[in-house]
Parts: sequence; C-alpha cells; structure tokens
Amino acid sequence: MFNHFDDPAPDTILHLAKVFRADPRPHKIDLGVGVFRDDAGITPVMRSVKAAEARLLAEQTSKSYLAPEGDMRFVELLAPLVMGPDLAGSSRIQGLQTPGGTGALKVALDLVKRASPNARLWLSAPTWPNHRPIAIGAGLEVLTHPFFDQPGQALLFDDMLATLETARPGDVVLLQACCHNPTGVRIGAPQWSAITDLMMRKDLIPLIDLAYQGLGDGLDDDAAPVRMLMSRLPEALLAYSCDKNFGLYRERTGALWIQGETAQAAARARAQALGIVRAIWSMPPDHGAAIVRTVLEDDSLRADWHVELDSMRARIVRLRAAVAVSRNSLGFLAEQTGMFSLLPTSLEQVTQLRDDHAIYVVPPGRINIAGLLDSQVETLAAALTGG
Ligand code: LMR
Repeated sequence: MFNHFDDPAPDTILHLAKVFRADPRPHKIDLGVGVFRDDAGITPVMRSVKAAEARLLAEQTSKSYLAPEGDMRFVELLAPLVMGPDLAGSSRIQGLQTPGGTGALKVALDLVKRASPNARLWLSAPTWPNHRPIAIGAGLEVLTHPFFDQPGQALLFDDMLATLETARPGDVVLLQACCHNPTGVRIGAPQWSAITDLMMRKDLIPLIDLAYQGLGDGLDDDAAPVRMLMSRLPEALLAYSCDKNFGLYRERTGALWIQGETAQAAARARAQALGIVRAIWSMPPDHGAAIVRTVLEDDSLRADWHVELDSMRARIVRLRAAVAVSRNSLGFLAEQTGMFSLLPTSLEQVTQLRDDHAIYVVPPGRINIAGLLDSQVETLAAALTGG
C-alpha cells in the first residue's frame, strides 16, 4: 500500500524550525515560525493565562465530553471582541469552537465544498503556505490573485481587484483581515471598502482569516475589516485564532463563525459544519478555550490580558521602527504591520543569511520581526544591507 510514496516536499515553515534547532551556532537568530517572543527571546505563557489555568485547576470538576461545537460560552464571549456587539448579537451569525485557526479553515472549506461543489477559492499571492493544502484537501479548485510586489514592497491593489473581477459568482475569497502573513502589507480602510463593493457586486463570499487580532494596530482596528465585510455582505465565513493573541499556540484554540442570508440558513450551515467536525476530530480540545473563557469573563484577568497584548504589540512596533531607522533601504518595515514582513530578498540571499550569518528567514524572505532581540537589530540590518 505505501511503497509508492515519495518523500513529500517539507513544509517551509516547520522544516526551517527543525533546521534552526539543529544549528549549533550560539549567535543564531530565528526569524522563522510565527511565534511572539519577549525581550528575553522567550515565548512566554501570559500572566492572565497562567492565572486562568490556576483557577481551572482548582475549580474544574469534570473532563467529560462537551460537544462538537466545543465551549459555547467561549464562543459567545469572543464574538463581540471580534465582530463588535451588533454583529455578535445577529442571529444570522452562528459560531463554534475549533482547534486553532487551522481547524476553523478546514471546517470552513469542507463546508464550502459541501454547500457549493463548484465554488473556487481565491488566495492572495503570496499567502500563508498552509492555505492551499487545506483547500486542496477539501477538494476545492484554488486560484490566486496578485497581491504584493516583493522587490517594490507594494500592495498590488489594482491588479488584485482586476483579477477578482474575473471571479465567478459564488467563488470564495480568502482575506486576511490584519497582519497579512507573510507580507505585513497594510490594506487601508478605503481599499477594504472597495474590496467589499466588488465582493457584493460579483456575489463573492469572503472567508476571513483573523489570526493576529491585537498584534497589528489594536483589537478594534485589526477587526475593522471583519466588521465592514460582515455588516455589508449577506454571507461570510470567519476563521479565528487565539493562538497568537493569547499565546496559546500548542493548545490549538480558535473559532469559526458562519454568516447566512437568514437565521435559518446560518443555523443549517452550522449544523452541517458540526457534522463535518464530528467526522474529523469529533470535539475540539477543551483547555485553550476554557482559558480564554476564564480570562474574558473576569474583569481583572481581561484587563490584564489587554495590558499584556498592548505590550506585545508595542514590542513589535518598536522592533520594526528600530530596524527601519537603522538603514534607509529598510524603511518599509515601519510601514508594515504585525509579526511578518516579506523582505525583498532572493532565495539565494535567504540561503546566504542562514549560511553566513546564522539568520533564519522563511523562503523567499519572510521574517517574524517578533523573533528579534533588540541586541540583534544591528546584526540583522547589516546582514540585509551588506554593511
Ligand atoms: C506561521 O505562519 O509561522 C504560523 O502561522 C505558524 C504555522 O503554523 O505556520
């Protein structure tokens, strides 16, 4: 059965993490996998999360099954934080807990295939490398639209819209609401408005991927595109991750919301999604969602989480500014947002950075700016600019 398998192409991000771990050079710099690091280079367990875990340990009385939708109190508390109070109260929007944003994307795309087998999925070029395999796994045809000029560090907005004009009614467009992975390029409010107009006119459905809320410009600003798209379009899917903004990576904590044209359509679509869940992981893992619920339902834990998230964002902004001011040619880093930027590097330069400077960058040039220490800013700038 298995003899015909070749070795699969390694996942660019996870493979890089493995090579980094094996590198014995003490001065190595990891700008690969997208995890936040603090000033000591640690990915910390947040204070509010630790406090919530202590409460859960003391108070949890059972680990019996919940249900395929997971912890619905978690979903209810998260909804207004993400969508704002009006949309969160809409009966046309129905949610469920998922294992991370990846789990939400998987269920969303399986649901699209089930609802509309001929729908196609549009991805930005480039996008997070895992988007395509999840869509292919769902059996969907994948198309790409222009998005980013890597050498010029510019959003290719007109080309993006022109290409989406060729989409068919009922096609799905995956839109990262903030902190675009891998480019960090900003999409301004007027541009989101133009995207929403086009989606409306062409009868396209957004699959919104929000994995970094709070790490770009702030909780509300980062979610503004979600609120615009969902308040103006009749149907939408929203895949959400708490892995970064609560630092819960390995706990796999996320949610999926489905917006239908009517409350009944949304409820039925959610019931289909729960059938999909039952046949994959049956029920999502509990611990991460229980932590987020505990933080969000307690005023003092919630306030402390805000403080922690603000300081994480401030660190990212400060590091971006520090590299940007160090060399004129790196000024673009201060214009971009979130953990990632896609440097104007060639594949050869990415290899050179690793071999000659022990700086690990995801090909063809994505850096996680939150992986940098203040003491490494000059080393990185010098390596990127040749002096
Ligand atoms: C990343 O892009 O580095 C993160 O989303 C981690 C992952 O799973 O790829």
